[in-house]
Amino acid sequence: MRTLPFFPPDLFEADRDALLKSLFEVGTDPEQRFILGRRTAELEQAIKDASGAGDVAACGSGTGGLELAVGALGIGPGDEVIVPAFCCQPVASSVANAGATPVFADVDPWTMVMDPDAIEPLITGRTRAIMPAHLFSIMADMPRIMEIADRHGLPVIEDAAVAQGAVLDGVPAGRWGTLGVFSFFQVKAFGTAGEGGVVLTDDPELARAVRMLRNHGQDGVNRFLHHRIGRNSRFDEVIAAFQLHRLPTFADRLERRARIADYYTERFAPLVERGVKAPPAGRNGRCYYVYSLQVSRRADLRAYLTENGIGSHVYYPTPLPLQPAFSAWAPEGADWPRSRWASESNLAIPIWPHLTDADVERIADTICDFFA
Ligand SMILES: Cc1ncc(COP(=O)(O)O)c(C=O)c1O
Repeated sequence: MRTLPFFPPDLFEADRDALLKSLFEVGTDPEQRFILGRRTAELEQAIKDASGAGDVAACGSGTGGLELAVGALGIGPGDEVIVPAFCCQPVASSVANAGATPVFADVDPWTMVMDPDAIEPLITGRTRAIMPAHLFSIMADMPRIMEIADRHGLPVIEDAAVAQGAVLDGVPAGRWGTLGVFSFFQVKAFGTAGEGGVVLTDDPELARAVRMLRNHGQDGVNRFLHHRIGRNSRFDEVIAAFQLHRLPTFADRLERRARIADYYTERFAPLVERGVKAPPAGRNGRCYYVYSLQVSRRADLRAYLTENGIGSHVYYPTPLPLQPAFSAWAPEGADWPRSRWASESNLAIPIWPHLTDADVERIADTICDFFA
């Protein structure tokens, strides 16, 4: 029986030669530029063309992108930013590391992304931004979030780390917010064999600030002239060359993921009576970087899948405000019940583009058999 791991070791197998070639070319290039060179500029331009963004600045990671966005908006001590309570750690750490306060909003019980109804009661005179994140397989409700942000005159940092290539109501992920962020971490939609990310924005001043902050506050012209403190969040030329090679096939991989998701959602719909909830069906605002079910008998199902050679993964088993690191920002008596439920119930199953139809069928059959 073939094992189907959750993190497959052959994710970049088809592009192995291109990766080795990129490494050789960058390493032997007479320019000897390993970061922020012409390949990075070319990748920024390609993502700008694909997304329609006014500017795209590549940086060290998705986390780096969020930190640069927070920095570009001038957020600091005394300021508050509303972030999802169930999410990846950097939405909160990017705010806390700037000396500002992450304010945790609960999520929608089904889609597991920030609930727009939870945002408005958290807005105070100190709120400086809203930071929704797209998650697992679905984008946050950006039309409603932008409407709330606009009404309160707040910028939005759109964490689209996992959602590159997704489109909601005709607007690409990363293009809804004042600033948007993509991640190239290996398992992301446009993941790579290493780290990287980009910040997208239409605002030339914010773009300038992001470019400056990513490289120790320098302006790209005068070396060793530091206008701001900044940080080191620069982009790797080998990864830029590799991503340029992978960009033309990105849409095909996304489509394959979406087809697998369509199939899973159809197969799992009848399991709702058994305490299994599949993500909402459809293609609008969907980003199938991960396919996560909500399952009340999660531990039993996981064990059964393991017995049958199928990997699975639990994301964020503890909501952010319940983490020791963020306890200082968890107001006494506050609760995030739907985030707790998401932490207790989410179970991600394989959705790699190179799974065969037979693999996908086997995964669905095994899950259905468990509940039969
Ligand atoms: C929703 C979300 N935001 C931000 C990040 C951070 O991206 P990176 O791993 O590239 O720093 C991740 C990645 O784990 C993520 O899932």
